[in-house]
Amino acid sequence: MSGLKQSGSPASKLSVSFFNAGNDKKVGGNKGVLVVGATGKTGKRIVEVLLKKGRKVTAGVRDLAKGEEALGKPGNKLSFLEVDVVADSPTTLAEKVTDYSAVICATGYSPSGPIDLLGPYKVDNKGTTKLAEALVAAGVPKMVLVSSLLTNGWAAGQGLNKNYIILNLFGGVLVAKNTAERKIMATTGLDWTIVRPGGLRESPPEGRVKYGKADTLFGGSISRYSVAEVCVAALDSKAASRKIVEIVSEGDAPKLTFEQGFASA
Ligand SMILES: NC(=O)c1ccc[n+]([C@@H]2O[C@H](COP(=O)([O-])OP(=O)(O)OC[C@H]3O[C@@H](n4cnc5c(N)ncnc54)[C@H](OP(=O)(O)O)[C@@H]3O)[C@@H](O)[C@H]2O)c1
Repeated sequence: MSGLKQSGSPASKLSVSFFNAGNDKKVGGNKGVLVVGATGKTGKRIVEVLLKKGRKVTAGVRDLAKGEEALGKPGNKLSFLEVDVVADSPTTLAEKVTDYSAVICATGYSPSGPIDLLGPYKVDNKGTTKLAEALVAAGVPKMVLVSSLLTNGWAAGQGLNKNYIILNLFGGVLVAKNTAERKIMATTGLDWTIVRPGGLRESPPEGRVKYGKADTLFGGSISRYSVAEVCVAALDSKAASRKIVEIVSEGDAPKLTFEQGFASA
């Protein structure tokens, strides 16, 4: 299913008018890139890739001490900001994101104590949507979202795919992510890229990145390092603009630049 098709539902039309509310606000830019979920295994790598490229980065973390433990002390290019997409109010979130040129969202519910079956709903659906709304309200022009393969699995005929079933057993995480994706795609006040990786690996990249259009890749895995590089490349790519990009790693995938990969997706 394409983004356009998804944005046609009555619910997403409602979102369009909500999202358009902040279009005339100033466009941000002074503070560099904000990575929300920067203590996570993917978020941390995204921060590292940005720093390697000499970009100014703010690590959005729920716990500053945990952030410094994961990423080191703040410095010339790196700062920290407390961001909780569930606990922060829409107004607080909009104030926090003001003046960033872009936000990469690598959050995801993962239980640290007793499992909260509503966790994916709160974090991956409502939290991500609230963040996107805050970006529009604050005039931040770009959002890159780390989502997942199979978020739209039901509509894509993958209802019996075992990964679709297993992942959704745990609080409906793919459905939660898909709901947030649809709301983001319905915006006109935000340039977005939704990166949908396969199963995430901690190991260094193997093979090449295989790019797919929305709802075309239904299995496979990829290194978090590769995901981080793709997310950072998407920030400045015209070909990645307002596009879902599915990625897995594959030994014999064609050798493509990021731009060629985005253009093919
Ligand atoms: N695991 C897979 O195979 C797989 C496959 C495809 C896609 N994905 C998706 O890819 C994304 C990244 O995965 P990952 O394994 O790198 O994630 P992770 O290591 O579990 O990190 C999740 C991050 O989200 C943050 N977070 C949780 N709730 C938050 C909230 N309310 N406000 C702000 N931040 C919050 C966590 O912060 P704390 O450190 O404070 O908890 C952490 O930084 C997730 O959306 C995941 O669902 C995963």
